[in-house]
Amino acid sequence: LMLVLCLSAAEDFQWTKNEWGAFYYGTFPTGFSWGAGSSAYQTEGAWDKDGKGMSIWDVFSHKKGKILMNDTGDSSCEGYYKVKDDISLMKDLKLTHYCFSISWPRLIPTGIKSDHVNEKGIEYYDNLINLLLESKITPIVTLYHWDLPRVLQDKYGGWQNISMVSYFNDFANLCFERFGNRVKYWITFNNPWSTAVEGHETGEHAPGLQLRGTGPYRVAHHMIKAHAKVWHTYDTQWRHKQKGLLGISLSGDWGEPVDITNLKDIEAAERYVQFSMGWFATPIFHGDYPQVMKDYIGRKSAEQGLGSSRLPTFSAQEKSYIKGTSDFLGVGHFTTRYITQKNFPSSRGNSYFTDRDLAELVDPHWPDPGSEWLYSVPWGFRRLLNFVKTQYGNPMIYVTENGVSEKTLCTELCDDWRIQYHRDYINELLKAIKDGVNVKGYTAWSLLDKFEWDEGYSERFGLYYVDFRNKNKPRYPKASVQYYKRIISANGFPS
Ligand code: NOJ
Repeated sequence: LMLVLCLSAAEDFQWTKNEWGAFYYGTFPTGFSWGAGSSAYQTEGAWDKDGKGMSIWDVFSHKKGKILMNDTGDSSCEGYYKVKDDISLMKDLKLTHYCFSISWPRLIPTGIKSDHVNEKGIEYYDNLINLLLESKITPIVTLYHWDLPRVLQDKYGGWQNISMVSYFNDFANLCFERFGNRVKYWITFNNPWSTAVEGHETGEHAPGLQLRGTGPYRVAHHMIKAHAKVWHTYDTQWRHKQKGLLGISLSGDWGEPVDITNLKDIEAAERYVQFSMGWFATPIFHGDYPQVMKDYIGRKSAEQGLGSSRLPTFSAQEKSYIKGTSDFLGVGHFTTRYITQKNFPSSRGNSYFTDRDLAELVDPHWPDPGSEWLYSVPWGFRRLLNFVKTQYGNPMIYVTENGVSEKTLCTELCDDWRIQYHRDYINELLKAIKDGVNVKGYTAWSLLDKFEWDEGYSERFGLYYVDFRNKNKPRYPKASVQYYKRIISANGFPS
């Protein structure tokens, strides 16, 4: 029996060797901001109401077979009609900020500002912003959380087309003009990685394309240019009057080498992070793509006989235009993977995934919190935050998304695993702040259960349970609401 115990302990050790240890009691810096988040398509519903145009997510979710159970965001949480109710939930939590996104086609039905601006859409966000401010909740507003106006996709090919840069800039300008006197935190894109890879290579997300090759890289290239353009617009035309900050929000799941003594694994784990967060953050903070992306994609393109790399290049002028265009970095973080080197010969195709030459593993001992991809690995959060600090010159950070889902169909209000997840992740965040990482705020993802993209309503992230079977979409607090409230009122974990 002893022998068996030792063996399993040794095996445990093998996998948990990177845990950074004990619970850390302490409080967050004074003024630290506590929030919750949502996004337009995931919560608003009212997809065709009051003059809103269609987005690529309306088109995609209406196609049979794209979304689990053929769910759609048509009515979702009916957030469009429940602004007051939802703000009272936020007040009850004592949130100091709320992250939400603006639906581009709700403001500009075709996506092109000179066509038509929908005043009803403006009214909706005006009211939301005013009520938040009255409640002393700071709005942190994302301009693009994946719901491109369909006309721009159908007519121009969406983000594959460089003309999106100026359409997006016009939309952003409209938002600054109409809301910027009250909104002081702007985020251009939420998680553009998803748009590039899941929207244009795997096709799991709208617009559902499977381009491979240069496709996802071109999409990302245009989004980076659009981000930079909008930052310059804000910086030169609005900042002196409005005095706000503008950044981008990037998804950063952590990649840890399977074997920390093996250089190949260390490099593979580095690629995992550089091909996701680094893809966008490196141009924005340093002016160009990560060297490792240029090397890998360049070499594979040459082996495939292409005349130039599938990764587009920035001119010297573009590099200096893009560099330094984020006043803060939004970080969305959910989970961690172990990474090992895995070579994909160039003959095996030309996809984003084969370009990275790595394999992702999970520790069989990690508890499965309910959805198959989202393992709770709190120490990965601290590592990612330290990575951001060292790679990008210790920028100001807002954690714009962090949370966990469950896949239960019944009314599950006793979400112990969510309490544990937030407790442990917030604790690692506190350790990261002690490490000197410049984090100013934390956002629990998400306020409500909502439409979870290709997973439909099957995956629930909310602090509040939403009964989607009832057409009034009532909200019920899960146990995690009380827990998060305690953390907020104590500003951390006093001993
Ligand atoms: C990140 C996305 O931005 C968000 O919309 C989504 O709900 C979460 N990931 C969870 O999958």
